[in-house]
Amino acid sequence: MCGIIGCAGRKKAQEFLMQGLKKLEYRGYDSAGLAVLNGDELKVVKAEGELNKLAEKLNSRSLEGSLGIGHTRWATHGIPSDENSHPHQDCQERFALVHNGIIENYQELQEDLEAQGHTFSSDTDTEVLAHLIEEIYEKDMISSLQKLKEKTTGSYALAVIDRKNPGKIYALRQDSPLVIGLGEKENYLASDMPALLNVTSEFKILEDGEMAVIDSENVRIISADNQTVKRAIFKADWDAEMVEKKGYEHFMLKEIYEQPIVARRILGEYLDEYQVKIPELNDIWDKDIERIMITACGTAYYAGLVGKHVLAELAHLPVEVEIASELRYQRDFLTENTLVIVVSQSGETADSLAALKKAQAKGCKVLAITNTPGSSIARSSDVVINIMAGPEIAVASTKAYLAMLIAFYLLALKLAELREELSRKKLAVHRRELLRLPEKITATLNRVEKQCQKIADYLKDQQSIFFIGRNLDYSLSLEGALKLKEISYLHAESYPAGELKHGTLALVEEGVPVIAIMTQKELAPKTLSNIKEVTARNGRVIAVVSGGIITSQEDLDEVIEVPLCNGLWAGVLTVLPLQLLAYHTAKILGRSIDKPRNLAKSVTVE
Ligand code: AGP
Repeated sequence: MCGIIGCAGRKKAQEFLMQGLKKLEYRGYDSAGLAVLNGDELKVVKAEGELNKLAEKLNSRSLEGSLGIGHTRWATHGIPSDENSHPHQDCQERFALVHNGIIENYQELQEDLEAQGHTFSSDTDTEVLAHLIEEIYEKDMISSLQKLKEKTTGSYALAVIDRKNPGKIYALRQDSPLVIGLGEKENYLASDMPALLNVTSEFKILEDGEMAVIDSENVRIISADNQTVKRAIFKADWDAEMVEKKGYEHFMLKEIYEQPIVARRILGEYLDEYQVKIPELNDIWDKDIERIMITACGTAYYAGLVGKHVLAELAHLPVEVEIASELRYQRDFLTENTLVIVVSQSGETADSLAALKKAQAKGCKVLAITNTPGSSIARSSDVVINIMAGPEIAVASTKAYLAMLIAFYLLALKLAELREELSRKKLAVHRRELLRLPEKITATLNRVEKQCQKIADYLKDQQSIFFIGRNLDYSLSLEGALKLKEISYLHAESYPAGELKHGTLALVEEGVPVIAIMTQKELAPKTLSNIKEVTARNGRVIAVVSGGIITSQEDLDEVIEVPLCNGLWAGVLTVLPLQLLAYHTAKILGRSIDKPRNLAKSVTVE
């Protein structure tokens, strides 16, 4: 969702902002713009399209000045166009501002402002903020931002510069992320930390309702009730190298191949031969917890579905999984005896954060599974499992999903131990099996890539692709279908294998691909019967199976085999060919793999 960048310093702002926007592109890429202040001279340049369009526009220009703000947009209000791109300005062109989020009452505000003589030049909700500041500004920006907060509803992050107060960036956070990077005689602002890792690893994170004044020497954070806040420095353990492609054609492919390291890292942190180490869990776990509610969006939700099976199987607890955007408005039965698990790579997904707050209001303890320990979701939770996947840049999540699965495996084992549901011997066997997963992940990647490439060549020409599986395999197949549609733009759907015959089978005709997942020994014969229903209609079956699970390949046009492992852990192996099928199909089709159309990496609006 839109990326904000800013710098107040010594270097030329234009270059810094363009580099920062490049790093933020994954948050939005339908238009971009920047504003640079040189003394009281304010220059704004913006362009529809990917960042290179803005670069082309700037080509012959060199904007003087070392203070500026930039923005990369994911359109919500108003089509992608030069006019609708940020920064937006007021009538006098005194202020320039960039915004992430949604101003819910913008129409009402716009009507009032138009009645007062303001003229608008875009269809965005953002522009209203520039005119509102112009209207309410009296003595200083901080009191104006206070007033602006009172007049607006919605969630947003804002950065403003003022021609009459050069040398300062003003920022406001209201339910949408903003971090301040600390440099040497230079300070920065961004929507997330990876955008600034090339210049700093030290951050101050703004909390909801807070404002900040940033100049080259100082950063002042001001609370919602107008007090100066002393904020501790957050040190990021990511570095600039982690956000480079390192010779891979796409971030997605690099991230797929990072998965053995990611698995090793998270297992190394939380597990050894003798125990699962999540000490903080003891603080919130009590015997009165009767059930678990997992909530998340997209891929994180699908990881939660796998988590449900594993937790139920090992810890013997009732587990529900609900999409966060649904949970937040649903009649729910959350009580103090429900442990809520919020899963989020970014830790900033607006719906997931809202579901978390709802759970807390009901007195639930919250455990976050996230890749971003400094994020809003992490900071709001009682316990955090850091999946330690490193920065994930491709919009399509791969390594974070795999690490989320491992986090669930670890949690399930820990809860099984705390609830005394498994013998010591069984726990030890499971731990040993988990420690062997990284090498099996490497073996799988080596084994399946070429085959996936070949199958992708068939998939690329299809209208619709179906995925089937039972229980845990069904949860995995949902992720496979999402990955494929997200980056190849082909229609892909997933069904419980037994459900196909209740309607969707009508769509299966000669050559229609059905990708069947079979990793659960006892369920494979059942899925094989459903496969017969497909082959009887001349559908083309591509099976993804754990080695040794099936005894005959009759009815299967292609078999992608991953190494055998305990069925509970099979997800981390099975997802690999699903990711590669999606990647290669999208590649053959020439899609924009890392930045698929209409999508953004971190969804910070409702
Ligand atoms: C995954 O490939 C997606 N791009 C998307 O579904 C994502 O998982 C979802 O938006 C949730 O994001 P989060 O994990 O950062 O909360």
